[in-house]
Formats: sequence, C-alpha cells, structure tokens
Amino acid sequence: MVELHLSTSLILCIFFPVFLFILAKIKTKLKILSSSSPSSKLPKSYPIFGSFLAILKNKERFVQWTSDIVTSTPNLTFPLHRTFGRKIIITANAAVVEHILNSNFINYEKGHFFRGNLRDFLGDGIFNADGDKWKFQRQISSHEFNTKSLRKFVENVVDSELSDRLIPILNRAAAEKTVIDFQDILQRFAFDNVCKIAFGYDPAYLSPSLPPEKFAVAFDKAVKLSTERFTSFIPNFWKIKKALDVGSEKQLRIAVNQVREFAKEIIREKKQEEIDRKSVDLLSRFLSSGHSDEDFVADIVISFILAGRDSTSAALTWFFWLLSNNPEVENEIIKEINEKSEVKEMIYIHASLCETMRLYPPVPIDIKAASDDDVLPDGTVVKKGMRVTYHPYAMGRVEKVWGKDWPEFRPARWLRREAAEEEKWSTFVNRDQYTYPVFQAGPRICLGKEMAFMQMKRLVAGVVRRFKVVPVVVEGAEPVFISDLTAKMKGGFPVRIEARGQEGC
Ligand code: HEM
Repeated sequence: MVELHLSTSLILCIFFPVFLFILAKIKTKLKILSSSSPSSKLPKSYPIFGSFLAILKNKERFVQWTSDIVTSTPNLTFPLHRTFGRKIIITANAAVVEHILNSNFINYEKGHFFRGNLRDFLGDGIFNADGDKWKFQRQISSHEFNTKSLRKFVENVVDSELSDRLIPILNRAAAEKTVIDFQDILQRFAFDNVCKIAFGYDPAYLSPSLPPEKFAVAFDKAVKLSTERFTSFIPNFWKIKKALDVGSEKQLRIAVNQVREFAKEIIREKKQEEIDRKSVDLLSRFLSSGHSDEDFVADIVISFILAGRDSTSAALTWFFWLLSNNPEVENEIIKEINEKSEVKEMIYIHASLCETMRLYPPVPIDIKAASDDDVLPDGTVVKKGMRVTYHPYAMGRVEKVWGKDWPEFRPARWLRREAAEEEKWSTFVNRDQYTYPVFQAGPRICLGKEMAFMQMKRLVAGVVRRFKVVPVVVEGAEPVFISDLTAKMKGGFPVRIEARGQEGC
C-alpha cells in the first residue's frame, strides 16, 4: 500500500510539471493562432477564416485600419491573415519598400492574382503587365513621355481646359452662389485632360451643363466592380459568377465592353486621321511607332486613363480641403502666385501638394506578389506567391520619420529658407522615393509624375489666384477618405466658390 502510494507520488511529481508544461505550450500555441498580445492592434486570426471578421468589420476603412496596425508594430511590417491560409505582408518600412521596389524588383511583380482580377478591364496594359509585356510598353512610353513636344502639348491642353472651361464654371458658381461638388469638377477636369493627352480626343466632360458622360460612368463602374473581386471571401468566386454571367460580373462585362468599344472607336478614327495629318497625342505616337493591333493599343490607352484621371483629381480634392482649414498656407500660396510669374518656380505650391499627398496619397496601398521565396530586410519570411503590400498612407504617418507633428498639414517641412533671405523659401527639400513612395519607386516609378505636378500646379495657381474654395460641411465634420484602386472623398466635396475680386494672369 505504502509502495503504491510512493509510486503514485513519484508519478505525480514527475508527470505533473510535464503536464503543466504541455498545457502552457498548447495555450501559447492557441493564443498565437487566435490573436496576438492583448496590447497589440493586430487582429485576431482563426484557422481557415484568418482575420476575415476583422477585415469585414473594417471593410469601409481598410486603409485607415491597416495603417493604425502597421504604424503600431516595431518593424512597421505585419502579416494579415486572409481566408484559407492566405497571408499578406503589409509594410510601411522604407527599407522593405526599397527592397521590393528596387533591389529585389525582379522578385516582386503584379502577379497572377492581381493581373487575373484586372485582366478583363485592363487587358495587358502597362498597369496590369509584368515581364516582357511591361518592359516593352515602359520603353516606348518613357520615350514618348520625355519629349519636349509632349510637354508643350500638355501645357496647352491644361491651360485651355482651365481658361475655357474650369474658370467660367467657377465664375458662374461664385456669381450664383451655388453649391457644387468640387471633386466631381476636378475629376471632369482630369478626364478631359487625359483624353486629350492620350487620344487627342475631347470628351468635353467639363462643359457648363456638366453632362453625364457614358464612357466616364462605364469607366467608374469597371474600376469599382473589378476592385470588388479582390475582397471576396472565397478567392476566385467571381470566376463562377463570370461563367454564369450573373450579378456584378454581368454588370462588369457590360461596363468593360462600353469602355473598350469607346477606346477602339477612337483608335479607328485616329488611324484614319493619321493619314492626313500628324498629331502629337500619345495614341498617335504609339500608332506611328508601328503598333497597330487594336486590342493592344486599347489596353495601353485604358491604362493611361486610369493612371491619369483619378490620381490628380484625388490629390487636388484633398488639397483644397486642407487649404480651407489652413489659412496661413493659403496666404503663403497667394503671396507666391503674386511674386512669381512661372508656375515652375512655385515651390511653395509644389511643397503643399507633396504635403497633401503625404496625408492623402491618391494610391494609398499598392500590392506586389513574390515570384520566389525571400526574406525581407526586417527578417520577415516571404513565401513564393505571397502578396507584399506597401502602404504609402501609413508611411506618411510614421512619427519616427515625420516627427510628432505628423498629423499637421505643414508644407514648410518640405522647404528650406536661405539664411540671408529669412523671408523667402528658397529650396525644395525632397524625400527619398522609398520613404515617400506616393508615385511608387524604382524601375516602375510613375511615368506621369512630372506631368501630374505640372497639371496640378497650373490648376492651383489658376484657381487660388481668383477664387476661395469654401467647403459646405457640418462644423467640425471631417470628410472620409475611401479607396478603390485610387482614393476619393466619400460622397463628394460640396463647396461654395467666392471670387477674390481680382483678375490676373
Ligand atoms: C498625383 C498624381 C499621380 C500619382 C500619385 C500617381 C501614382 C502612381 C503610382 C503609385 C503608380 C504605380 C502603380 C502600380 O504599378 O501599382 C503609378 C504608375 C503609373 N502612372 Fe502615375 N500617378 C499620378 C499621375 C499620373 C499621370 C497624370 C499619368 C499619365 C497620364 C500617370 C501615368 C502612370 C503610368 C503610365 C504608370 C505605370 C508605370 C509602370 O507600371 O511602369 N500617372 N502612378
């Protein structure tokens, strides 16, 4: 009996601690699987479902939600668990961004998932191409983008859109004291410009009656419905809907057909026109360099419209919102407009636009996919096929980079004064492209960056010199930043226009 008692005690002495140890291990394992530490902002993750519930809950504010999380992590990088074991690495770490966009560029492509979701809409256009197809378009486009004649053409297009359409519309709104949706106006402005630049075609979308433009409506629909493919619970479920031609996939097919038909009609007209005279728009340049396959040229053209339309209008919408809340910045801009004759020299406006896009980048998050296993500079392990997303919206909010005053709209953080001339801003101080990847960076950096600044600066100088843009919002209410492929202000930007009572320029 005593013997039995002794051996039971012995067994308990040896095995109880082992049992406790195993229990503790299981608990830790479960904790890792289902959540992170209670103080962390990392969302809970479950087998099969991943963080689907948290993602669903934050669907409308995915950009802000992931920004809060990534900026709270020590490495500025975290894995977001999607359904069925899929994992996305989200990063706001400049060294990681440099790695994926530049030093290991070859390993980070758009990838099958991204290209597959957007293929119906964008085909093999530059925005949706990898490898040789991308290289080829990049080569021709960079050459065409850098010609002096295109630059001059763009200046003329923007100036006439400004003086013949935008200013008269704003004059009328000021005289009649009407409320207008400034986001809509700026999108129309950008759409007319990009169509004229890309096709040499004027859709006159910013004419006084502000007509609904069939092509622009179809284009918006195609962007929205294609983006929805990215967020579905079951990956590739859209393929079944597409095969059955039902629901959103049916609507997408109709919208895409309208967009492509429109693009092709213009290409046909252009080919005809080219026989008679030489035009300088991008499409003519592509056609005259020997690329006449209609589908392919349509792909290229659609990508350019996507690139050039919503990006500049988003930046400008948020710029005018920020300006209305920062009268001292507005005064500096007016001073600069009065002192300088060339838009090129207006560095305070340039800095204000950079500062706007730091807080509200037109492309707030951007996805890449690894074509092979890799380890990121911060030690994160990446498996072949995994998506790695860099997050410009979060990167503009990193305290270590921008300082404690990062929430402030302060264009001066981009400028330096000369000691001898205390009064004047003399130098624009750029940030490296990996700390501020608003235009992406590395070999795939935005081709239209210079064109975008030129357009935006001309518009700002032209509008601010003549008008004050006054938001019509409930006192203290903040507009909401939303994003499909590019960012927008939710519900538009209602404003009143006040004339400054002086005509210049
Ligand atoms: C404020 C304005 C703009 C911003 C913030 C911006 C930003 C970007 C970003 C982030 C990308 C990379 C997208 C990706 O590959 O996923 C990009 C690519 C591109 N952008 Fe822009 N963009 C702007 C204006 C423009 C304009 C006006 C054009 C010309 C019409 C343009 C033409 C392009 C092209 C062709 C690409 C593709 C480059 C490539 O893949 O090699 N962009 N842009």
